[in-house]
Amino acid sequence: MGAKYYVTTPLYYVNAKPHVGHAYTNVIADCMARYQRLRGADVFFMTGTDEHGEKIKKAAHQHQQEVKPYVDSVVEHFTALWEMLDIGYDFFIRTTDQFHQHAVQEVIRRLDRNGDIYKASYRAFYCVPCESFWTEPQIKETEGRCPDCRRDLQEFEEENYFFRLSKYEPWLKSQLREHPDWIRPQVRYNEVRGFLENNPLEDLCISRPRSRVSWGVEFPLDPEYVVYVWFDALLNYISGAGYLTDPDRFGRVWPADVHFMAKDILRHHAVFWPVMLRALGLPQPKVIFAHGWWKFEGEKMSKSRGNIIDPRQIIPQLGGGREDESSSGVDALRYFLLREVPIGMDGNYSWRAIVNRMNSDLANDLGNLVYRTINMTEKYAQGLVSGISSPLPESFAGVFATVKSEYPRLMDQGDFSNALAQVFEFVRLMNKYVEERKPWELNKAGRTDELGVFLYHLLEGIRVVAVYLSPFIPGTARTIFRQIGIDSSLLARQGALEHADWHADGSFHVHKETPLFPRIDVD
Ligand code: MSP
Repeated sequence: MGAKYYVTTPLYYVNAKPHVGHAYTNVIADCMARYQRLRGADVFFMTGTDEHGEKIKKAAHQHQQEVKPYVDSVVEHFTALWEMLDIGYDFFIRTTDQFHQHAVQEVIRRLDRNGDIYKASYRAFYCVPCESFWTEPQIKETEGRCPDCRRDLQEFEEENYFFRLSKYEPWLKSQLREHPDWIRPQVRYNEVRGFLENNPLEDLCISRPRSRVSWGVEFPLDPEYVVYVWFDALLNYISGAGYLTDPDRFGRVWPADVHFMAKDILRHHAVFWPVMLRALGLPQPKVIFAHGWWKFEGEKMSKSRGNIIDPRQIIPQLGGGREDESSSGVDALRYFLLREVPIGMDGNYSWRAIVNRMNSDLANDLGNLVYRTINMTEKYAQGLVSGISSPLPESFAGVFATVKSEYPRLMDQGDFSNALAQVFEFVRLMNKYVEERKPWELNKAGRTDELGVFLYHLLEGIRVVAVYLSPFIPGTARTIFRQIGIDSSLLARQGALEHADWHADGSFHVHKETPLFPRIDVD
């Protein structure tokens, strides 16, 4: 059994259906989970939904529904999308799960016993048209106006419960100083340090009076209140790992190896969450990874801006009706998201960009290599090729060695785009190899042995490439294995990265199918 690896995504709000932005984080987390399993880790991958708060209740009422049936129906949209996108999570947590709510309440009781919670007056600002609440620091930049709609706000004051965040400021600063790799990428680490240098940590208001927020976890110290949604939601990372319900499992799984999220919710994860853990006496997550935003027509894709792209609408348009259970559209989208932008940067979604990526890398380079190799194997070798002590050809050696050393290094850092770039160097090299060796001439000249070795090199190279690509485009990797006559269940096995080594004595019984990816007209 390899080392454990615990990877998380944020819990998505269920006030609307998922879009490409949500899909992005889950594809990233899934890619990391699959890669870690490939290299032998015992992976626990958790995702889920954030279901409390007035925003959710309002959405339910807009749909003329009671809250619980409404959230149940939106959750189904998320799970259906994850299934479609081949997201292999181990556990799906919902903040309305009873065990989670109990954990939230127990945490508050513990923090209270430690003297970390107190009641005091809370001053905040209310936007009547948006029905949203803001605190003073949140409206600093908009000079006292609503950060969403820029209208005037009404000030109000009420009694609430606070968590003593400020007490932990010196600890948090030293934690950051001592762990420069804790928050990634570097620019986000700098941002959090800068924020702490310039803003003294204020205690966090963790309750909301029932009179204005009724859909939430009951505040255990006072039934007139519910728990602030962020305080509730962040605790999923431990409740879902078995904190309180399964201490043995929790002991094995915690701390998380990486929390993935977008940069807009970094502060919650890099300030509130670490302090909550510290106050509970629990170890810190190993890495907090904030990726960039997907934008559409220049603006961050989001429901409130109304510029969302629904993955379930674009996938069928990218699909080529491959003869297997997973459509090429799913992998075209996964590939695009992981390849198009380096993980910390913002990306621009466009139909043109996704189709161009698919046509050039997946249809032209990868699809063409696999198709022509299988075609030649059927034509020149009756579909059957064996390697008899066929070492790596010299012309592959350089690129092969680079992929072998760079791939794990880049994947460990979450640099998926460059890891893919490395693998595709090898794909392109093999296409070049076909042009250079001119197999049709070897065939004409009756040089059958040479032709067999040549085909073996390509098939073995394709097999290795499929192993490397399996975390990114798992359906395609399985299809490739099937087409070259290898058991595709190998790819799902813990430690399957060992199959990326060159085998000098393998054999392939190929089976031609439709090309892996169709070429699509951009316009
Ligand atoms: N419920 C909170 C998170 C609680 S975690 C304990 C929340 N939910 S959300 O529905 O707004 O989802 C935010 C997350 O969705 C982002 O952190 C990111 O992972 C993903 N994204 C949403 N829109 C996105 C883009 N336009 N681009 C990239 N990621 C996006 O915040």
